[in-house]
Amino acid sequence: MRENFLWGGATAANQCEGGWKEGNRGIGTVDMIPWGENRLPVMQGEKDYRQLPEDSYYPSREAIDMYNHYKEDIALFAEMGFKCYRFSFSWSRIFPTGEEEKANEEGLKFYEDFIDELLKYGIEPVVTICHFDMPLALVEKYDSWKNRKVIDCFVKYCDAIFRRFRDKVTYWITFNEINMLLHLPFMGAGIRFSEGENEMQVKYQAAHNELVASAMATRLAHQINPDFKIGCMLAAGNFYPFSCNPKDVWESIKKDRDNYFFIDVQARGEYPAYAKKMFEREGIKLETGPEDDEILKEHTVDFISFSYYSSRCVSTAEEAITESTSGNVMKSVKNPYLKESEWGWQIDPLGLRVTLNTLYDRYQKPLFIVENGLGAVDRLEEDGSIIDDYRINYLEEHIKAMIEAVDEDGVDLLGYTPWGCIDLVSASTGEMKKRYGFIYVDKDNEGNGSLKRSRKKSFDWYKNVIASNGAVLKESGS
Ligand code: BG6
Repeated sequence: MRENFLWGGATAANQCEGGWKEGNRGIGTVDMIPWGENRLPVMQGEKDYRQLPEDSYYPSREAIDMYNHYKEDIALFAEMGFKCYRFSFSWSRIFPTGEEEKANEEGLKFYEDFIDELLKYGIEPVVTICHFDMPLALVEKYDSWKNRKVIDCFVKYCDAIFRRFRDKVTYWITFNEINMLLHLPFMGAGIRFSEGENEMQVKYQAAHNELVASAMATRLAHQINPDFKIGCMLAAGNFYPFSCNPKDVWESIKKDRDNYFFIDVQARGEYPAYAKKMFEREGIKLETGPEDDEILKEHTVDFISFSYYSSRCVSTAEEAITESTSGNVMKSVKNPYLKESEWGWQIDPLGLRVTLNTLYDRYQKPLFIVENGLGAVDRLEEDGSIIDDYRINYLEEHIKAMIEAVDEDGVDLLGYTPWGCIDLVSASTGEMKKRYGFIYVDKDNEGNGSLKRSRKKSFDWYKNVIASNGAVLKESGS
């Protein structure tokens, strides 16, 4: 691997920061997403958060309280030898309602201290500007990204953070998993549906507004600091055809396009032909501004970041479709060649190499793996230790596939930040029990626990991987 390869870890404010009422922060959409049976309908925009029972529990309001523990957490990341750390800003911490004239100084100061702490250890910050959270006021007043007005609010937010952190941050990611807007519209983009609304029209209008906002942010970023590197972010994982039946192959191409659509615009600067035809077929008419095409064309991203947990599989045959994977918001037929996690996510390390190659062939821009990992139940031994060999095995296999893509296929890769390097709230289920971390956090699904941090077995393992720049995996022949 290259000398300056960015080994690190990733988290997001919405799942670890907490402090929902501290530092003059405004309410964010994530504060209204409950744990339990109502979670999915709220995230999908099908159920209104205002109609939830009073005793609902909202796990992200406190999360793992990184707001008050960040110094301790960053010290642990430094101990593992992190070269970079991906995290997100909470938009409503900086603009509590999204519309203030001036940014909330307490919010900016919090992130400044946070970034200074990273820089103290030589850890490069990688900032996601919008990760599954936005000021609730923008949802209530404008119906979120359905309305172009929110583009201006986003650009104002970007302006404040780009100027404040002009000399401290280089890597920025505009929207986390932008394609998740299609699957979890409220969580992804604050979208709720009213009865009779054409959901496809709403989703693609919101997508257009986000794509324009992302391009405008890219333009602004390069004006403020030409050295800034701006990335888009995709929930990746190729769709495999279940069989070599040409119908399955064609179906897999169509499914992949639903996801690539976003990156095609952000990396190539225009709507792909297949999307324009799909809009015609579906009767989707986008409200656009006179300069949108030019902005999209002129301000494409510098790098492409993505999350990879699993490949997906698609079939046109009825009998195959009945066997679909559970626990994953993007529907997939079960692939008989793969094992699965306790949450039904199929495990496919070679699929990471496939994804890296596909994305690099398609875009020829530097890539960045900003999420990968295994959500698993950890069991405390009598002495309090956690022997998470299952997590080590998962990561080891994926890192090996990543190294092959770089060393043998020539993919240009900036870095690797496994997800949830410290345990945090699961986005899909709201659980604490679904853990990804090298660092254990004492907290359970109902919110009980001391929040005490401790090192798992994988902590030392990852430390060695980083220290050897991945070589330790090759030597062990594992
Ligand atoms: C990605 C998100 O979808 O996957 C993260 O960007 C999320 O926010 C991660 O946490 C893992 O998913 P989950 O549902 O296991 O938390």
